[in-house]
Amino acid sequence: MTKPRILSGMRPTGRMHLGHLVGAVENWVQLQDDYECFYMVADWHALMSEYQNSASIRKYAYDNVMDWISAGINPERSTIFVQSDVPEHLELYMILSTITPLGWLERCPTYKEQIVEMKDKDLYTYAFLGYPVLQAADILLYRAQAVPVGEDQLPHLELTREIARRLNHILGSKLVPEPEAKLTRFPRLLGLDKRKMSKSYGNAINLADSTDEITKKVQMMFTDPTRIKKTDPGHPAECNIYAYYKVFANDRTDSLSEECHSAKIGCTDCKKNLAELLINLTKPFRDKREEMEKDPQYIKKVLEEGAERAHQIASKTMKDIRKAVFG
Ligand code: TRP
Ligand code: SF4
Repeated sequence: MTKPRILSGMRPTGRMHLGHLVGAVENWVQLQDDYECFYMVADWHALMSEYQNSASIRKYAYDNVMDWISAGINPERSTIFVQSDVPEHLELYMILSTITPLGWLERCPTYKEQIVEMKDKDLYTYAFLGYPVLQAADILLYRAQAVPVGEDQLPHLELTREIARRLNHILGSKLVPEPEAKLTRFPRLLGLDKRKMSKSYGNAINLADSTDEITKKVQMMFTDPTRIKKTDPGHPAECNIYAYYKVFANDRTDSLSEECHSAKIGCTDCKKNLAELLINLTKPFRDKREEMEKDPQYIKKVLEEGAERAHQIASKTMKDIRKAVFG
């Protein structure tokens, strides 16, 4: 029995952080058992927002792939590749652009949100409006049955399904399947300041952070704002540190909750313990990364092999679609 295929991607706009780990990559690692997995560095998508700082994209691409592998993505089992290494993405993007009504893109909720959220960047470009069309091309090119994504990506998945339906309808055949979203269940991990964890807010703990950096960052984290003195009872539900325990050490939360409510533990100690926990948790990643950094050719080789495998599938799909379009 062949395994069903999935594809997912990440934009190389910064270093991989703990939010990416629990919100995506841990799930990607699990899925390797039951699916044929394609994990893509979405560098064209990164370029849509980073076009004024494009020299950093390649660096982050390599860096992210190193983090994926150190977190357990196995390049022997999964195909890891860079979007721009497989030229068919752009060809399919063009064809899909011709059949995608402008209104679908203008109405896409992520479109307006991103423009407001990333105020420091001018996203009123032709390409950025087509962001979900390129994402649809990424997915349909591999005829992926499912796409593991976080909730924020659901509008793009819905558009992908609509574009797939329209392509099949117009060309009169079952050219591509309509992919299912495979939601990552984890609650969103917030940044040090309780806003969404993002490199552009400078509030992330990165997978490759040193032990000192982790300690410093945890010390900076917001706790229960009503707990001023150590003798004040704490409210774990209001505390971001507690939210981290929920994600990374759920078995410790019952006793912590009690100790916090009754002011038996102070925030300084509580943070110290969390830092220690995160340092232990990320140690295997740092070790594996150090190992990989000794061989500068390694990631290059992984990506060359990945591009080759991806290209084999992509070229077959494009052959079918070109034939359906032009006869
Ligand atoms: N838009 C996705 C994100 O920002 C990244 C992405 C690009 C993607 N192409 C994809 C995700 C294809 C899943 C499938 O997270
Ligand atoms: Fe948060 Fe821990 Fe302080 Fe309680 S003791 S408020 S859980 S940091």
